[in-house]
Amino acid sequence: SSATQSRTSTATTPPKSGKATMTRPHTSSSESPLMVHLLLCCTFLLALAAPATTAASVPAPALTPAKQNMTWDVEYILWSPDCQQRVMIGINGKFPGPNITARAGETLSITVNNKLHTEGLVIHWHGMRQVGTPWADGTASISQCAISPGDSFTYEFVADKPGTYFYHGHFGMQRAAGLYGWLVVNATAEQDEPYRRDYDGGELRMLLSDWYHDNVYAQAAGLEQKYDHFQWVGEPQTILINGRGQYDCMLGAVTRFHRGIDRRARTCVRGKEAKLCGDEERCLRRSECGPYCPQSQCAPVVFDVEPGRTYRLRIASTTSLSALNVQVQGHDLTVVEADGNPVEPFTVPDIDIYSGESYSVLLTTNHTPTFYRSGSFWISVGVRGRPPKTLPATAILRYTNSRFPWPGSPPPATPAWYDLQRSKDFTHRINARRNAAEAPPPPRTEQVNRTIVMLNTQTLVGGHMKWAVNNVSLTLPATPYLGAYFYGVQGSAFDASGEAPNGFPGGYDIDLPPANNSYETTLSDRVYELPHGAVVDVVLQNADMRRDNDSETHPWHLHGHDFWVLGYGEGRYTSGRERLNTEDPPLRNTVVVFPHGWTAIRFVADNVGAWAFHCHIEPHLHMGMGAVFVEGAHKIRELDVPREAMMCGVIRTTAAALTPAKPGSSAPAPSAHR
Ligand code: C2O
Ligand code: CU
Repeated sequence: SSATQSRTSTATTPPKSGKATMTRPHTSSSESPLMVHLLLCCTFLLALAAPATTAASVPAPALTPAKQNMTWDVEYILWSPDCQQRVMIGINGKFPGPNITARAGETLSITVNNKLHTEGLVIHWHGMRQVGTPWADGTASISQCAISPGDSFTYEFVADKPGTYFYHGHFGMQRAAGLYGWLVVNATAEQDEPYRRDYDGGELRMLLSDWYHDNVYAQAAGLEQKYDHFQWVGEPQTILINGRGQYDCMLGAVTRFHRGIDRRARTCVRGKEAKLCGDEERCLRRSECGPYCPQSQCAPVVFDVEPGRTYRLRIASTTSLSALNVQVQGHDLTVVEADGNPVEPFTVPDIDIYSGESYSVLLTTNHTPTFYRSGSFWISVGVRGRPPKTLPATAILRYTNSRFPWPGSPPPATPAWYDLQRSKDFTHRINARRNAAEAPPPPRTEQVNRTIVMLNTQTLVGGHMKWAVNNVSLTLPATPYLGAYFYGVQGSAFDASGEAPNGFPGGYDIDLPPANNSYETTLSDRVYELPHGAVVDVVLQNADMRRDNDSETHPWHLHGHDFWVLGYGEGRYTSGRERLNTEDPPLRNTVVVFPHGWTAIRFVADNVGAWAFHCHIEPHLHMGMGAVFVEGAHKIRELDVPREAMMCGVIRTTAAALTPAKPGSSAPAPSAHR
């Protein structure tokens, strides 16, 4: 394949001689623990060599606009992420996809070749605000047409502010099929990061996900069935760390805690490696030879660290469903970054992370290996918020002076899944970093132009199970919204006859299911239109699901923005009566809504484009749990939208006659046939 990655003129190589081009082979996940070590070592070395690391002492070289070019072949691959072979969506033949490490302000140009021959494809850059480039946001039906099989599309956008991000598929349920990878943006020397001087050991990365043995087409079909044929996806089989996990067994000793999750929990079989690893069919061809063979795709993730240092551990979650808890045995974690924004540091024994979120935590390797402490520690990642059926994932933190390569004790138990108060306490501790230029306060409440209250419900629509916002379950149109506005064909592309509902009836009882409120849900592709620059508050209001007395946790993610999280509360939100934090609310791109509670956010609609706002649980989004904000509708025509990104739906069928609606000219009337 044409897997290449090149970087032209970076900040580390001042362009004395014009364009210095460096080509380096694409590297991502590896086949053996040895390679994991090598890569991690390389990661450390690279991290140590990066200007951001040395910025404290060495004067920074002049920054030049830089560009990274990548070419990705997206295709079906056979892979064994948890020691069992399945079909996945891979990039350049691997899972997870390539690591992108960019410098803030650098242009990323990623050509995606869709070699999936049976389905379309888009890739979303989760956390990139895409200011001025809304067509590069990678959301099918919203920012572009899905890339057809055999076709290519080049995403070109500026790497946003420094922070911890990732990318993933955003069409159908392709994220759950394994289409994801890291996108880390390093600070330039000028920018620095407020916590940069607090770590001297380099960085570690954990991209968390969950994995189902049923493929996503089966999952989607189950969700789309009518009535009693509806099949929920259930709990995942395996939690993955950097794309690696172990199905049905634990790397460490099994305890009562683990047996409480799965009665059959056992330690992965060890000792037959020689025979297993040599098994050509199972090991070399299918990579099903268990976690202890060096070439295995499910070999454990090992972080080699030096004692007496502080590391920055980047953690991101792209799970399909699971809320997770992360702990590092014997080590506290100091949270310093959330979703690419600095937070006021606080120290905890473990963190919760919901799908769509990312954190940086500082971890200090302050143990002296003793008889009891071998110098190797478990990192445990377990399920929160739902009765777990999935064993925790484990990785190993290994000091370079460790006495044993593996921790002696069993992996620690994760906090009780039902201890919701614990999760709330953690979430409530996240506030903006004080006195950081990167963490500006929100506009004042008097400046708010519009408040949208969004009731989250689950109900049947025409016999299909759906999630809805204000009794509207989102269906996506064949024509991307961005293209519809650009070409002025809103009326024929989607239901432009009115806006999506701004709220829900005052008498609605959030402690009863929608049916008991005689609240009829419909399907719709209506949008919210926000004038350019408007200050918008959104209150996400949770409620009973279809089943009485039941309400779920939903992580909501906004494209195109960070928003301020003004607060969380129990029960029904009462306008004007709730205490909101307008002093130091954290900026984030994903926020959780707790069962039977509400969450209030604020953002400024200053990013011209069409942006998704949705629950980041993949099956919930698939069942309609989302909304679309169109910002600065009249300015969309002034954008430089690439024509090839919009050639589907009504735009393709009428392409010959269409030219971009020019600013000033009035939008064509909605066509009558809608
Ligand atoms: Cu990471 Cu619209 O999602
Ligand atoms: Cu949800």
